Amino acid sequence: MKVGVIGLGTMGAGIAQLCVEAGVDTVGREVTADLGERARDRIAHFLTRKVEKGQLEQEARDAAVARLSITTELADLAGCDLVVEAIVEELAPKQELFAELERICRPDTVLATNTSALSVTEIASATSSPARVVGMHFFNPAPLMPLVEIVRAELTGDEAFETAYELAGRLGKHPIRCHDTPGFVVNRVLIPLLNDCVRVLDEARVSVEDLDAGMKHGAGWPMGPCELLDLVGIDIHVHASEALYGKLREPRMAAPPRLVAMANAGLLGRKSGRGFYTY
Ligand SMILES: NC(=O)c1ccc[n+]([C@@H]2O[C@H](COP(=O)([O-])OP(=O)(O)OC[C@H]3O[C@@H](n4cnc5c(N)ncnc54)[C@H](O)[C@@H]3O)[C@@H](O)[C@H]2O)c1
Repeated sequence: MKVGVIGLGTMGAGIAQLCVEAGVDTVGREVTADLGERARDRIAHFLTRKVEKGQLEQEARDAAVARLSITTELADLAGCDLVVEAIVEELAPKQELFAELERICRPDTVLATNTSALSVTEIASATSSPARVVGMHFFNPAPLMPLVEIVRAELTGDEAFETAYELAGRLGKHPIRCHDTPGFVVNRVLIPLLNDCVRVLDEARVSVEDLDAGMKHGAGWPMGPCELLDLVGIDIHVHASEALYGKLREPRMAAPPRLVAMANAGLLGRKSGRGFYTY
C-alpha cells in the first residue's frame, strides 16, 4: 500500500510518521522543499527518540525513515492508494486540492481529509467522484492519540469508508465510524463541555486548580479542563468553538469571553508559556 500525505505541519507530519512506522510507503507533499525537509527531520528526530527510549529498534527506525519520500509536486502522488489531506483549515484551498487530486490520482484512490471543523461533504463536492472522499480525523498529537474518527460524508461510498477504517487500524489506531456533522463525535461533545467548565470558573467562583481537581477526582477525567485547554491551545479551542457555534448556533458552543480575552492577550497555554497555568 502507498499513502500520500499533503501538508506536513503538526498533523500531517504525525500522520506520515505513523504510516512509515506501520510499514507503509509514504509520499509527503509540502509547498516548499525546505518545509518538506524540515518535516522529514522532525519525523526522523521523533523516531530516533523512540530508539533512545527503547521503543523501537535502530534498524526499524532506519527502514521507516527510508519509506518516506518528500515532494513539492502533487503529480508524485499519482500512484497512491489513499491520500490524507492535512493542509490549512480553509474550505477553498481544500476544495481546489481535491479537484486537482481527482485529476492526478487513479479513480480508485481514496481521498481523505483530516479537517476538524469543515464539512467533508462540501470538500467532496469539489470533485465529480465524491464516493471516494472520506474524513479521517486524527487527534493531536497524531502519533500518540489513539482515536481516529472515520467520517462518512453524504456521498461517501462503502469501499472508501472501509479502506480508511482499515488504514487507521493498520496504523495502530482505534477508529470509530460516524457521519459528517459539525464537530463529528468528540469535538461536538468536548468543545461545549470545556466552555461550560470555563463559565463555571466565574459562576461558582472556583479556582482554576480546584476546578481541575474537581473534574479529575469527581468525574474521573485524566486531566483537568484548564490543563486540557492549555495543552490544546486557547486560540485553537476558541477557533473550534466559533466554527461549531457558527454551524449549530447553540449558546454553549460559543467561546466564553474569558477565553477570547486570553487568546487576544496571547495567553495561549503551554505553547506560549502561559495560559491558565504558567509553564
Ligand atoms: N492541530 C490540531 O490540533 C488538529 C487536530 C485535528 C485536525 N486538524 C486539522 O488538520 C489540518 C492541518 O492542521 P495542522 O494543525 O497540522 O496545520 P499546520 O498549519 O501545522 O500545517 C499545515 C501544513 O500544510 C502546508 N500546506 C498548506 N497548503 C498546502 C498544499 N496545498 N499542499 C501541501 N502542503 C500545504 C503548510 O505549509 C503547513 O506546513 C487542518 O484541517 C486542521 O483542522 C488539526
